[in-house]
Amino acid sequence: MYLGKVGVIMKHLLLLFILFTLMIVSLISCDLGPESPRGFSLPEGNVDSGKLVFLKYQCLACHQVAGLQAPEGTINNDKYNIKLGGKSTQVKTYADLLTSVINPSHKFAKGYALSVVQYDGVSKMKNYNDVMTVSELVNLTTFLQSNYQLVPYRRTVY
Ligand code: HEC
Repeated sequence: MYLGKVGVIMKHLLLLFILFTLMIVSLISCDLGPESPRGFSLPEGNVDSGKLVFLKYQCLACHQVAGLQAPEGTINNDKYNIKLGGKSTQVKTYADLLTSVINPSHKFAKGYALSVVQYDGVSKMKNYNDVMTVSELVNLTTFLQSNYQLVPYRRTVY
């Protein structure tokens, strides 16, 4: 079909307009708030297996989780008695939760003296990145998540 010069220009303008509109729509739809669907989540794990991981790595040595008794033989590090779960914590989103396990120094738990929870900007929490498997982390995160009231988020589709 022969459109003529003006027709071709109009067609280009229309295409540009459509592209521009699509760009604006996609920018608006991926808001940057805590509920943003952007981000990343591990695959869904298993709560019970995650609880076993939590016990295996002796997280209870420094932490408390409502309703979870430390089995006999758990080290008890009285210096730290940091509550995990609930609402009034630094952990508000899924990303906060995951980050607080793989990079504890990223943010420090709220409600504790800084001198108790960190030294020189480094969290006193142990780092498990070289010993914990990814499968363990997947289950552990699912277990921890079941104890927190996180901001709703959209899971990564696997
Ligand atoms: C040697 C003590 C110690 C051990 C063991 C330990 N943590 Fe921690 N953890 C801390 C301290 C201290 C903090 C507070 C400072 C910070 O937020 O990094 C903390 C913070 C956290 C937080 C963030 C809490 C909040 O509300 O901000 C999470 C989640 C957490 N730990 C999970 C774990 C898990 C899971 C394990 C076991 C795999 C574990 N911790 C083992 C000392 C420990």
